[in-house]
Amino acid sequence: MCGIIGIISQSNVSIRLLEGLKRLEYRGYDSAGIATITDGGIDRRRAEGKLEKLIDVVNDHPLEGHIGIGHTRWATHGGVTKSNAHPMANETVAVVHNGIIENFASLKENLIKRGAVFTSDTDTEVVMHIVTFHMQEGLTPFKAVQKALSQIKGAFALAFLFKNHDNMLIAARRGSPLVLGMTESELFIGSDAIALASWVKTLCYLEEGDIATLTLNDTTPEIIISDADGEIVQRPLRQTNITVDAISKGAFTHYMLKEIFEQPLTISDTLQSLISIEDESFHSPLLALNKPFSKIRIIACGTSYYAGMVAKYWFEKLAHIHVDVEIASEFRYRTPVFDGQTLNLFITQSGETIDTMAALTLVKQNNETCLSIVNVSESSIARASDFVIHTMAGPEIGVASTKAFTAQLVVLAAICLKFAKERCTISETEWTQYFQSFAKLPGCISELLRNDGIYHQLATHLCQVHHALYLGRGVNFPIALEGALKLKEISYIHAEGYPAGELKHGPIALIDPKMPVIVLAPHDEWFEKTLSNVQEVLARGAKVIIFSDEKGTKQIIEQTKTMKCLEIVTLPESNILTAPILFTLPIQLLAYYTAHMKGTDVDQPRNLAKSVTVE
Ligand code: G6P
Repeated sequence: MCGIIGIISQSNVSIRLLEGLKRLEYRGYDSAGIATITDGGIDRRRAEGKLEKLIDVVNDHPLEGHIGIGHTRWATHGGVTKSNAHPMANETVAVVHNGIIENFASLKENLIKRGAVFTSDTDTEVVMHIVTFHMQEGLTPFKAVQKALSQIKGAFALAFLFKNHDNMLIAARRGSPLVLGMTESELFIGSDAIALASWVKTLCYLEEGDIATLTLNDTTPEIIISDADGEIVQRPLRQTNITVDAISKGAFTHYMLKEIFEQPLTISDTLQSLISIEDESFHSPLLALNKPFSKIRIIACGTSYYAGMVAKYWFEKLAHIHVDVEIASEFRYRTPVFDGQTLNLFITQSGETIDTMAALTLVKQNNETCLSIVNVSESSIARASDFVIHTMAGPEIGVASTKAFTAQLVVLAAICLKFAKERCTISETEWTQYFQSFAKLPGCISELLRNDGIYHQLATHLCQVHHALYLGRGVNFPIALEGALKLKEISYIHAEGYPAGELKHGPIALIDPKMPVIVLAPHDEWFEKTLSNVQEVLARGAKVIIFSDEKGTKQIIEQTKTMKCLEIVTLPESNILTAPILFTLPIQLLAYYTAHMKGTDVDQPRNLAKSVTVE
């Protein structure tokens, strides 16, 4: 969601503010703006819609200044309008904000009574007025911000710019992340490390309650951080390994396509970070998982939740562990029973999803162990967990998760094997077979990607429909859900995922020749049952697309001779651990090519955000 950028330099910053915002586009936004100090006063440019509009405005009315802040806004309080776009600014202060000021309504009422005139519907504007009042009372910018923060409730990240202070920015974090960067002569603020890639290598992450004052005295940059108690603190410096290459599209038309094609590598990297295929052993992140537990509770949102659903099948079948899978936004507001014996496993690409974070806080308050699987290593969830396993997917820019999902599955499969080994629930032969199938997986995926023409062809049919149904059983049921989610997210075609066995309990009523049914059916223990369901939909005139393997394809052809499927796509052979990973690729490609043909904004679908930092 919203993105923040701030720069203090000795040269004009407006172009680089826009460049930073461009890198934050992936988070999802609907308006943008920048503000600088020119001749001691605050000047700003804002525009509704895509960044190109703001760039046009800045080209028509250039913005001078060596210091500035910028923002991409994902609307929460107040519609998508220029007047609601950040920075919120008056003559004294300009502010950009991620997150939500929960008590904004009561604060606004009081501010209006004191004479404040509001020009937007945002919650952010209250912060601007409170800081302004405190500065009018004679407080320094830092003290004014500190006092204002003691009055506001919620989860947020803020960056401020002040009149007559053309060498100082203030940044504050509570709930939403903020990162600072410093070179020999410049200072930066970003809502994530991606915003600052190419400018800085050394980063400093603010912690909860921190307020940072960034000052450039002549050519000397300085950062002073005070913690929630007002004490001056040092925060560790970290080196970022995010390169500009890693966050560029390269030769691909979209980030999503690039990220789909990166999967042979990201899967292989993630595997290698956890297991040694040659000697069939585990590496340290898995070995560190040594706390006893009686059951597992997996908590996540969106695509990450579907990864958790797959893991439930794996852990139960292969390691004989009881698993509950929870949607974080529901879990956090239920009254779960904590027995102190449960391993809580949080799955999150961004590590910042607010509901997942709140669920983690609840679990910690109840003294249970928290393990997280995250892709962003410095994220809030990674830092708050007892154990962390990193997915090696690299930065994922496309809003619709692809390579992070398959990397999460790889981590979960490796954890499952570790537990199965410890509990002696799989034989030596199975153990070796799983390791060997892992070794072959990246190659199988490369092969599948080399033959992507078929997905392009299928998309010509799919892009004309209004609805689609995805079916799967067992470990491929969550992949059917993920397939439907991918299609609706980026092509805006209504899609539902169902366990094939549930078909007769409702969705079969929707079947007609206009309803494509996409079936995930490797020749596994659920195959025969799924094939019966295929017969049922074929008999009702549905256009069926089946993804199977060689053995399955033969049987499908034999059994559906009279009622032909629209298409049968044969994938490489798989087993219970590799099938959900392998069968994810077709549903990603299908969604991508369909959306591309429809001409939607694949990387930044309407209304969606990459990192959901509001409830
Ligand atoms: C958003 C993203 C999804 C993601 C979900 C959970 O909805 O658009 O791609 O699956 O958040 O995000 P997380 O970062 O916690 O995995």
